[in-house]
Amino acid sequence: MWHFLARNRQVAAMLAVLTAAALVVIFLATKGSGYRIVEKHEVESEDVSERDDIFSTHTLPTDDRFMASIGNGHVATNVFSDTIYMNGLYNGRKGESRRARIPAWSNIRLNSTLTHHPYSPVYSLDTKRGVFKVTVDRDRSTVTQRIYAHRYYTRAIVNQIEVVPKTHVDPNFIHHEIWITIKQLPGPQSSDIDFAPPTPEIIEGRASWRSCGKTRVAEDPEYQPMLVDVCAYWTSVPDHLVVPQHRPRVFTFVMTVDNDQDVARKEFVKVLQEDGEILFDKHVEEWGKLYQEASMEIEGNLKLSKIVNGIWYYYLSSLPSLESHQPAERFFGLSPTGLARGGSLTDYEGHNFWDTEMWIYPSILLLYPEYAKKLLQYRLETAYVAAHLAKITGNKGYRFPWESAYTGSEVTQPCCPEVAEFEQHISGCIAFAARQYLALTRDEEWLKHGGCSIVTNIADFWASRAVINYTTGLYDISNVMGPDEDHSNVTNSIFTNVVAGYSLYLAQYVACLCKSYYISKEPDRWADIAWSLALPYDEVLDYHPQFAGYTRGEMIKQADAVLLGYPLQYPMNISTRANDLSYYESVTRPNGPAMTWSMHAIGQLQVGDNLSAAKLFNRSYDAYVREPFKIWSELRRPAVGAVNFLTGMGGMLQALVFGFAGLSARLDRLVIAAPQLPPEATGFTVRGIKYLGASLTLNIKVAGTTLTVTSVDDAWPLTMFNGKYNITLIPGMTVTLKGPGPFTIHSVPWKDCHLPADIIGQNYLRPIGT
Ligand SMILES: *[C@@H]1O[C@H](CO)[C@@H](O)[C@H](O)[C@H]1NC(C)=O
Ligand SMILES: *[C@@H]1O[C@H](CO)[C@@H](O)[C@H](O)[C@H]1NC(C)=O
Ligand SMILES: *[C@@H]1O[C@H](CO)[C@@H](O)[C@H](O)[C@H]1NC(C)=O
Ligand SMILES: *[C@@H]1O[C@H](CO)[C@@H](O)[C@H](O)[C@H]1NC(C)=O
Ligand SMILES: *[C@@H]1O[C@H](CO)[C@@H](O)[C@H](O)[C@H]1NC(C)=O
Ligand SMILES: *[C@@H]1O[C@H](CO)[C@@H](O)[C@H](O)[C@H]1NC(C)=O
Repeated sequence: MWHFLARNRQVAAMLAVLTAAALVVIFLATKGSGYRIVEKHEVESEDVSERDDIFSTHTLPTDDRFMASIGNGHVATNVFSDTIYMNGLYNGRKGESRRARIPAWSNIRLNSTLTHHPYSPVYSLDTKRGVFKVTVDRDRSTVTQRIYAHRYYTRAIVNQIEVVPKTHVDPNFIHHEIWITIKQLPGPQSSDIDFAPPTPEIIEGRASWRSCGKTRVAEDPEYQPMLVDVCAYWTSVPDHLVVPQHRPRVFTFVMTVDNDQDVARKEFVKVLQEDGEILFDKHVEEWGKLYQEASMEIEGNLKLSKIVNGIWYYYLSSLPSLESHQPAERFFGLSPTGLARGGSLTDYEGHNFWDTEMWIYPSILLLYPEYAKKLLQYRLETAYVAAHLAKITGNKGYRFPWESAYTGSEVTQPCCPEVAEFEQHISGCIAFAARQYLALTRDEEWLKHGGCSIVTNIADFWASRAVINYTTGLYDISNVMGPDEDHSNVTNSIFTNVVAGYSLYLAQYVACLCKSYYISKEPDRWADIAWSLALPYDEVLDYHPQFAGYTRGEMIKQADAVLLGYPLQYPMNISTRANDLSYYESVTRPNGPAMTWSMHAIGQLQVGDNLSAAKLFNRSYDAYVREPFKIWSELRRPAVGAVNFLTGMGGMLQALVFGFAGLSARLDRLVIAAPQLPPEATGFTVRGIKYLGASLTLNIKVAGTTLTVTSVDDAWPLTMFNGKYNITLIPGMTVTLKGPGPFTIHSVPWKDCHLPADIIGQNYLRPIGT
């Protein structure tokens, strides 16, 4: 996804030998792309908290990109930045389209944290309660500032400043007042949104401001006839707070923002009517519900546990609340840097890529399927634009764009037309996400409301892309680019062909599932094409060349062919899998993104090389996580790239859940293969796994592994093979998993439909089915 290299293959090959730091320098010189260099000797600020769910520090990171963020899926901001971003708010035409900056009228600082003071503030991010805190211990008082994007009043960002006078102070001061100086720092006017000058208004007895405006440039006039409205309200911020020496006080400051002025105002009024503590409690309660529903817990390895808590915090901060005071608006998906960033080219402009479906989505689907559904919904809502893209490029069905933002038009940055033209695997990745969704949920309502259509239309796209080759008797797909963006315009990219083949097979299966309410023409033709789709394989070396004509030894950008084993779970001999892993590890650029190494870690666990797996797992996060708030950079230290890189986080989570815990979903079963502890951990719990409406908890300990059943959906009774017996899973039960596995859980069949054959690369003259 890192387009700059995709564009310049020769440059890329040359740069591969240089160090990451030098690489950044060259980019600065040649592209002016805004990468900054972190000094090699820069001391990272430190997380001094002993708790795994709270990150605390005395010194904020010197590079403000590594600041913590707050968010609730509707609004988000990097703490103390001058910018707020809102779900679905973009400005700029096509490749220029990026998250539109709203001035941070909620950015309030305590002066004692701005200027040099004798007090040493403590800053902490509480990942389980969704709040950033600043605490200043002064001579006569303790001041605590809480900053959060409200999880129930979702249009609001709240600042609360609590001043608690110290009672033991000198009696001479007892009748004095405490003055706390503060400062609102919203930054300059927005260049993306044409805001009217702020208008004062008294609301609920509070001096307040309102400013409304419109974005300046539509993304694609064809699909966006009108500019987007946005309206903000905020409480006036004085330059100091006054508290009597004998009584604590909480001051609440609020900013709300929405496309709809009424919604923003209503929310503002409601928040001001709430008592300060109740307001905060409501927020904490909503975060609590998220972690009651599911969580991942690691014992015995504080560092790892903190990173994992950080990942879930940043994921959930970019996802919308499921319950809110006013109805949720349409959700525009996750981008590689989340909702708190995305205003720059470096941060991928807040666009959606395959990162969502292949990297971020899988762990979310396992624990929070309702969020997975929201991510798929974004694609359903832009499907009619994908139909148009297919048409204008001479294809059928739906062709999803490589980069997608407000309208669903192709919005790839002008730098890199090749990725937009050739990385067509994005459509296959969306179909694969749908396949996994169906495997874990069997959600018939979803099929009825767009699912049947999106799956069959993606198959139509691939059917129109595959061309029979009479020499080989196989279908070829040419002029594509796999995940390895160092090789463009290739034929039979193995990753592309496997996701295309799966898309075609899935459509045949879904056509059967949907047949009482959705008509598909010739579903078996999709399967015929998939069966005969070329699949490059080198019999002598027993490995998969990445595409037809790949020259062995050529360097690649990132995991590509190794994705066949996982996440695609394409069946192959273990020797082939081992060869793919060792060969591609040796030719992957060392400066590629983190996800490559998480996929190699999963692969090594599959082939039984625990030591390599541990090393590769370390490599998948160690150089990318920035202290003290566990922010992820796209590139290895000291380089940075995109921040906060949700994609890299997704790879690491998948290595934990699908690698170490051994979980994987098939269309007819959930598999737990040889679960083991992550390195240096004494316990690993995945709580709230959702399978066919059931909620399950997998608990891995040194002494052994258990599965606890919290609930089962009556419609889908579950049976588990525990290594010895078949056991009917009933709520409250704990099953001990004996032996190496694999352990499988399945239910009754879903309708009378044959599961897809999922075999690709057979000669088309051979009969279907084996
Ligand atoms: C608070 O800090 C701001 C920004 O540094 C400064 O402009 C202002 O004068 C300070 N106020 C007081 C009372 O010190
Ligand atoms: C058919 O496949 C052969 C062998 O891979 C290849 O050399 C040839 O170019 C292909 N033909 C077309 C028309 O693509
Ligand atoms: C891609 O390859 C085809 C030949 O298969 C060629 O005609 C076309 O010009 C190439 N496109 C680019 C952008 O390199
Ligand atoms: C897998 O291994 C078996 C037994 O060694 C062999 O017969 C078969 O051809 C292999 N399959 C592939 C795809 O290499
Ligand atoms: C890898 O580790 C697991 C769990 O500790 C163990 O069961 C398995 O035997 C190990 N595999 C090898 C090849 O050592
Ligand atoms: C991970 O690798 C880094 C660099 O090789 C090393 O410093 C660190 O100790 C390793 N961490 C673990 C947990 O093995």
